[in-house]
Amino acid sequence: MMDEKRGYFELREERVDLRKRKWRGVGITILLLLLLGVSFWGSGAWTWRDGWVYGFGDSRDEPEREHTSKTVFSWSQITPSKELEYTPCFDDFLCARLDVPLNWNASDKEGELRAAVAIVKVPARVPVADPRYGGSVLMNPGGPGESGVNQVLSSGKQMQTILDSPLPLSEPSNGKYFDIIGFDPRGVNNTTPRLRCFPDAFNQQYWLLKFPDYSFLWDYRSVLGMEWARAEAMGASCQREGDESDMARYANTAQTVNDMLEFVERHGEWREKMAESIVTSEGISAAEKKDIVERTAWKKGNEKIQYWGISYGTLLGQTFAAMHPDRVHRLVIDGVVDPDDHYSGTWLTQLQDSDQIVTKFCEYCYEAGPEKCPLWTGTSGKDVEIRLTRIMDDLKTNPISVAAVGHYGPEVVTWGDMLLHLLSGMFFPYSSAELFFDMLAELEVRNGSRVGKMKQSGVRAAEIPAECIRDGPFSDACVTSHYISGMGSFQSISCMDIAGRNNITKQDFREYVVELRNQSKWLYTSWARNKLACLGYTVPPVWFFEGPIAGNTSHPLLIIGNTHDTVTPLRNARRVSTLFPGSAVLHQNSQGHCSYSSPSLCTGKTVREYFQTGKTPPPDTVCEPEWKPFIGCLKKDTNGDCEKLNADDQILWDAMKGVAE
Ligand SMILES: *[C@@H]1O[C@H](CO)[C@@H](O)[C@H](O)[C@H]1NC(C)=O
Ligand SMILES: *[C@@H]1O[C@H](CO)[C@@H](O)[C@H](O)[C@H]1NC(C)=O
Ligand SMILES: *[C@@H]1O[C@H](CO)[C@@H](O)[C@H](O)[C@H]1NC(C)=O
Ligand SMILES: *[C@@H]1O[C@H](CO)[C@@H](O)[C@H](O)[C@H]1NC(C)=O
Ligand SMILES: *[C@@H]1O[C@H](CO)[C@@H](O)[C@H](O)[C@H]1NC(C)=O
Ligand SMILES: *[C@@H]1O[C@H](CO)[C@@H](O)[C@H](O)[C@H]1NC(C)=O
Repeated sequence: MMDEKRGYFELREERVDLRKRKWRGVGITILLLLLLGVSFWGSGAWTWRDGWVYGFGDSRDEPEREHTSKTVFSWSQITPSKELEYTPCFDDFLCARLDVPLNWNASDKEGELRAAVAIVKVPARVPVADPRYGGSVLMNPGGPGESGVNQVLSSGKQMQTILDSPLPLSEPSNGKYFDIIGFDPRGVNNTTPRLRCFPDAFNQQYWLLKFPDYSFLWDYRSVLGMEWARAEAMGASCQREGDESDMARYANTAQTVNDMLEFVERHGEWREKMAESIVTSEGISAAEKKDIVERTAWKKGNEKIQYWGISYGTLLGQTFAAMHPDRVHRLVIDGVVDPDDHYSGTWLTQLQDSDQIVTKFCEYCYEAGPEKCPLWTGTSGKDVEIRLTRIMDDLKTNPISVAAVGHYGPEVVTWGDMLLHLLSGMFFPYSSAELFFDMLAELEVRNGSRVGKMKQSGVRAAEIPAECIRDGPFSDACVTSHYISGMGSFQSISCMDIAGRNNITKQDFREYVVELRNQSKWLYTSWARNKLACLGYTVPPVWFFEGPIAGNTSHPLLIIGNTHDTVTPLRNARRVSTLFPGSAVLHQNSQGHCSYSSPSLCTGKTVREYFQTGKTPPPDTVCEPEWKPFIGCLKKDTNGDCEKLNADDQILWDAMKGVAE
């Protein structure tokens, strides 16, 4: 079964082959997200693979190798089209750019202002004409601002394994096989017109490196003033006032919902066309033809969505269900955002369970014993938590200096740095919780060499290429691989969703910080920044959905929440369930953000069953994770080893583990 704990033991080895170490990326992702001021309602997990400004390749120890993919794919090679036309891309994926109105509320929907939604697909394992073809499932990784294209490029295949009927195909089954679809929402990554807040990658990096250390937030008025002004400058840079196609004004959730509906319709059209080309070929009986034609016919104006959204993706899913309740076939939301809190910009329904995560980690640490947990001490989890808190607190007044070594310059390890690693662990326990404890044990004896090195090795110089100078600021040539597309998308989408209802003063904000601190001492520092998302924007969205977020859907929703979710507490799942009659809540008994952060076969099977048959779990269903930090696997055989899984479960587990990592 799963390894007792990969990573844990790896960390004790010398630093070999760092490039392959996912754990390095994890902390850095969070670092990034925080630097972005991103709420990390996102999956973060999807994003650490491509190394942005803070890559996880260690450029100092090893020269960066040229990317030598045979097929260099650029989205500009595809001309946007109103029908879905897929082109091979990224080795074995299919890509399309769907041409849609820039404003779904415009009276002239065929007007000149257009957007092109970037779409990537993992094609189903069976052809469209096969009775087992299950259609397309749309995914969203959250943010707002995270790239769904990137999500599916990095874990679409594993997600397909989770949803698909078990293989092999040769065995007859009534199972279904799905296309997995990733798309970049408005204002995100490859969807055009692009939303860019920085003229080039260098400027963005310059801005990033000047973020104040978390150790200072929000203790001083001068820091608050600085953060406030920075947020204003950023917001004002993300909108192109006066420009007709200023993407920020068209990037709110409602517009993206209608893009999704358009995809669903166009998929019906595409499916019919694909099947047509099959039935006209020889060797198919008249009866078979009739069957295929009926099964694949485009139900114009009545095609229904299949969707799996996590984190902010749950808001997208709920908004879809509210705007188009009769267009729901399968809709899973996992790590649920409270819609009223989101759309009013209050930002107060996220941190209710967060600190419990640290408490649970400390309990697991105590239970696992000193061999498995470096901070083990005393007589209960409480003592471990006291030790952890003491090490953290000490860093606040006594940061650790690290002398230059090799290509690494002088460095200081701060409370802020360790807060980011702590958050990493809180968001993604499976991939990062134990690493955080390891690092803390080193810092306790004031050895900052590894953490300091990690901090620096992430930073890579961003340059301004000559083509960028030639083509001008904001041009595609300026957006090198170092550019973080999500920076600004988060603010723009959030701000346009609250549509001018975010009228706060500095005094309001100070009171907000106090209230938030009372919710979570570990998260309030970073989370508070979200509330500033709308500063600097002066122009409202061209259109928004007035609500309410509720509806009688044509198929019940499946709603997933963890016992202790980092930023989307279980109570949100329960409340949203009351807004959508017939929906079912699946409670996963774990810590972390969204169910995948502590994988559970039970959850995987429930989600699969839902996509396969539409069945929702009975009320009060609770799924246990397979694994807990320090303790390792939970199902043990009589020898105390991890229980061996049957072949199908092993495949499902590998896929879920892949997503969690
Ligand atoms: C635009 O939105 C408003 C308010 O939601 C609605 O009343 C109006 O009918 C919409 N117009 C079009 C052309 O969709
Ligand atoms: C944007 O999409 C590209 C694929 O076109 C992907 O490689 C990249 O990682 C994405 N960027 C982000 C920030 O997710
Ligand atoms: C500091 O920790 C690293 C492991 O990260 C270890 O290799 C090194 O020997 C330690 N330094 C001292 C002085 O103990
Ligand atoms: C925002 O608040 C200020 C001060 O309370 C008030 O003057 C202004 O009208 C408000 N604006 C909106 C859009 O509510
Ligand atoms: C702090 O939170 C508790 C509940 O967790 C609540 O009872 C109390 O009123 C809050 N205090 C403040 C100052 O908000
Ligand atoms: C759903 O249907 C019930 C019963 O018909 C009705 O009372 C309720 O208002 C409906 N909810 C929405 C959001 O349309």
